[in-house]
Amino acid sequence: MAAGGELTTGTSERPDLPVALVIGGGGMGMSAARRLGQSHRLVLASLSAAKNPAREVALREDGIDAVVTRCDITDPASVAELGELLAARGRLRTVAHVAALSPSMGDWRTLLGVNLVGARLIERMSLERAAPGTAAVFVSSSAGHLAQPPSAEITAVLDDPLAPDFVERLESLVTEQTSLQAYRLTKFAVLRMCRKRAAAWGEKGARIVSMSPGPIATPMGALESAGPHREVKLNMLRRAPLGREGTMVETADAIEFLASDRASYITGTDLLVDGGILATTRFS
Ligand SMILES: NC(=O)c1ccc[n+]([C@@H]2O[C@H](COP(=O)([O-])OP(=O)(O)OC[C@H]3O[C@@H](n4cnc5c(N)ncnc54)[C@H](OP(=O)(O)O)[C@@H]3O)[C@@H](O)[C@H]2O)c1
Repeated sequence: MAAGGELTTGTSERPDLPVALVIGGGGMGMSAARRLGQSHRLVLASLSAAKNPAREVALREDGIDAVVTRCDITDPASVAELGELLAARGRLRTVAHVAALSPSMGDWRTLLGVNLVGARLIERMSLERAAPGTAAVFVSSSAGHLAQPPSAEITAVLDDPLAPDFVERLESLVTEQTSLQAYRLTKFAVLRMCRKRAAAWGEKGARIVSMSPGPIATPMGALESAGPHREVKLNMLRRAPLGREGTMVETADAIEFLASDRASYITGTDLLVDGGILATTRFS
């Protein structure tokens, strides 16, 4: 029965459920959305206005209370609009920030914008709407666990991606301005962001963590297997103790756990979901 007493049929609306925000409607984002949609009302935000309607239909066909909206996470106005939509949907319980570009999907500057500036804008907006019990999971990458961390000077610049001269300062310090380097640096910076911001989230009784996948069988993963970085990826897979890529079900498991109340004492840290690749790299 609707609030006004009118009976409604043929709808998956669940205003009684807490809200989950998922950013990114690609392979891993949709699998996280399907999973979180079992226990939340969903707001899925992704860049492609052309693909979003089909995403909403697919989620609703599964009986999930989902709204899919366009958001460009590099644009502060677009992120603010998303914040208003969120507020209208109810209490924000869970954030899964999945969106990013892989090295084959853009150039150095584009990756800095999407993977780091975008993540920070979403973190800032989500914290404004967080309440006791809210949990945010930011997807980083095993690529962020660099063998050789960047210098203290570069790290300090990466720690403040919303500074107006962020890109210029970084470019004055980094000589290798490739998309692969941008991917590594931005994923390293997302790991740090979740550690550094844990205190601010804690003040609200909320948690923030990162999750670092290794190679996962998604469309982005397939692109990297076929593109110019194929050898980097194959080398990584050769070191995998489990001898295979991970699946989107396995990353959804990790996101669901980290966001859940069973992870209630886990904040300001990272969960590596890489099939043991980093461990064998370091210890063999
Ligand atoms: N797949 C792997 O092997 C692997 C390994 C390690 C880490 N990861 C990480 O896992 C995450 C998901 O990867 P995936 O394989 O699922 O990638 P994906 O299928 O390419 O999805 C990425 C999504 O990001 C969205 N996006 C791009 N730019 C955006 C923007 N400016 N604003 C809003 N959304 C934007 C895209 O939206 P539209 O489709 O709407 O354009 C796309 O759906 C990424 O953070 C990636 O770095 C993946």
